[in-house]
Order: sequence, then C-alpha cells, then structure tokens
Amino acid sequence: MSLDRIAEEIRACRRCPLHRSRTRAVPGEGNPKARIVFVGEAPGRNEDLQGRPFVGAAGRLLTELLLSIGLRREDVFITNVVKCRPPGNRDPRPEEIEACLPFLERQLQLIDPDVIVALGRHSALTLLRLAGREERSIMRIRGKIFRVELFGRERTLMPTLHPAAALYNPRLRPLLEEDFRKLGEIVGTSGDSGVGEGLEPWF
Ligand code: URA
Repeated sequence: MSLDRIAEEIRACRRCPLHRSRTRAVPGEGNPKARIVFVGEAPGRNEDLQGRPFVGAAGRLLTELLLSIGLRREDVFITNVVKCRPPGNRDPRPEEIEACLPFLERQLQLIDPDVIVALGRHSALTLLRLAGREERSIMRIRGKIFRVELFGRERTLMPTLHPAAALYNPRLRPLLEEDFRKLGEIVGTSGDSGVGEGLEPWF
C-alpha cells in the first residue's frame, strides 16, 4: 500500500454525500517520509478546484508559518480530516468525518510521523479522540504537547488554531505564531532548545 494508492481511492470515493458536490477530492501532499504531518479540517474552495490542500489564503499563512520555523511545505505532509469540500465551507458533519477518517488513519500509519499538528478544532478533537482522549475546547488545548499512543507507538500531537481562524480574527494570530515557535523548538528547527521531547532532527 502506498500513499499514491490511497490518494487514488480518495479520488474515487463515494462513502459520503460530499463526493456529489466536489470538483476534486484533496488527498493531501508532501514528503511521504515526513516526520511531521499537518492535519486541517476539510478543503475549501481553492483546494476543491485544484485538488491540493491549503492553497488559498489560509494556505499562504500556513506556508509562512512553516518557513518561520525553517520548514518548507515539501519537508512535511499536509492533509485534512475530510478530503472533500463541504458545500459553502460549512463544518464537516460527524458522519462525514467518520466516513473519511480511515483514509487519514491509513495515511498516518504509512507516513509514521513523530509529530502530528492538528490545525483547528475538528482536527484536534478528532485526533485526540482517536488517541482515546475526549476534549472539547480548542482554546484550552492549543499549543499543548500531548504524548499519545497512536498506531502502535507514542507520538507527539500538538493542536493549534486553524490558520483561517487567525485570518478571520487577527487577534488570534499571535497565538498561532506562539504555537509554531513551540513547534519549531520541539522539532529542532528553531529556537534555543534544539531537539526537544527526545526527537531526532531530520535534516
Ligand atoms: N482549510 C483546511 O482545513 N484545509 C485546507 O486544505 C484548506 C483550508
């Protein structure tokens, strides 16, 4: 099983009604051996048109935040919990998340990252639930480092705000930047603390 094979399955998927309104499914992209994976919520309009994750305004902010800690998009893997755009960018429904989740689980099993960054509430709560933790508030858990047992081993899960939230409400942007600084310290690409949490650098 390869990431390309999973992407093909996603493009052919009809497990939930979102396949009817999609232009293109958005499986995700990046380094198949990435040590860090970013998981957003669901594609928006630009992503739906291009079939690529985070290519609109939120994507530009994500790219900027990555660069601020010494990472390029191609160093990491970027995907979403839900692979098809919910009409009008509404929140994904629980049954759509359930239908789509096996794809994300298989992607994460194959990539086998040390660090998973959940972008936004849906992604954070979904990934924490997979790890057996029930949380409710993204504001309470953002920027926290969770050591979780996922897919057979311990991994680091860091929830942060969705970049689109910081575009909508600029007062949230410093919080997102603070979380990325912390991420840079954990993964050893920025900050003084070098490699944190027992992780090896991968450059
Ligand atoms: N927002 C998301 O959650 N994912 C994308 O791919 C784009 C915007």
